[in-house]
Amino acid sequence: MSIRQSTFLMRHLLSIAIVSVSGLVAWNGCSNAPEQSRRANVQYLKGTDGVTYLKIGKEVADSVGGVLKRNLMKAMEEGGAVHAVEFCNAQAMPLTASFSKKYNTEVKRTSDRLRNPGNAPDDMEVQVIADYRKDHSEGKKLSAKVAIDAQGRKVFYAPIITSGQCMVCHGAEGDMTEDLRGRINALYPTDNAKGFNIDELRGIWSITFKTI
Ligand code: HEC
Repeated sequence: MSIRQSTFLMRHLLSIAIVSVSGLVAWNGCSNAPEQSRRANVQYLKGTDGVTYLKIGKEVADSVGGVLKRNLMKAMEEGGAVHAVEFCNAQAMPLTASFSKKYNTEVKRTSDRLRNPGNAPDDMEVQVIADYRKDHSEGKKLSAKVAIDAQGRKVFYAPIITSGQCMVCHGAEGDMTEDLRGRINALYPTDNAKGFNIDELRGIWSITFKTI
């Protein structure tokens, strides 16, 4: 075997080893923590394997995120926070769905601290969010990832971090006007997405590519 071939083989074996180790860690987390029993074994793609999906995923997340943010800010300017909440309530999911169709993907925003139960995470997303939360609490830089789901489809994930703009509707309950708090609680009786600070992990993008 030439040196080049054996280097290639070593790299390949190494990436398999890394994937299996991360799988084991995920499973351990599962068996040790019954409350997290919904977590799935997530196989993140390593090295160059996920590069194309990372690139397309970022483009899709940026364009959906950009449209959502622009519309949200416009609604805030036009009618204030309560109006903007109503806008989000009515438009966020259809807007996301229209991008799913446009890019032949399933575009989703999800979280472990949900506002809209319609955005609930699946088992893989539960694990991905837990991985990001752990890295974030350890001060590590969070970056986008690609994994393979049970059907062999590639899934792009990226963290959603809070900024000052989010605080009106996701910040401390005590800082909200009576009106706004009332509207949010009426639309989302199980809301768990208040009380965030700036620069916290609010949730994730999850973009499933339908064609492999
Ligand atoms: C005007 C109020 C408002 C502002 C400002 C706002 N959000 Fe939200 N957010 C909502 C509402 C209402 C929902 C539920 C509807 C939906 O989007 O599905 C929501 C849902 C979400 C979700 C989907 C997960 C879930 O819990 O349902 C994410 C992620 C999110 N917001 C992140 C952010 C981020 C990041 C910012 C700042 C850039 C932000 N939001 C600013 C009102 C707001």
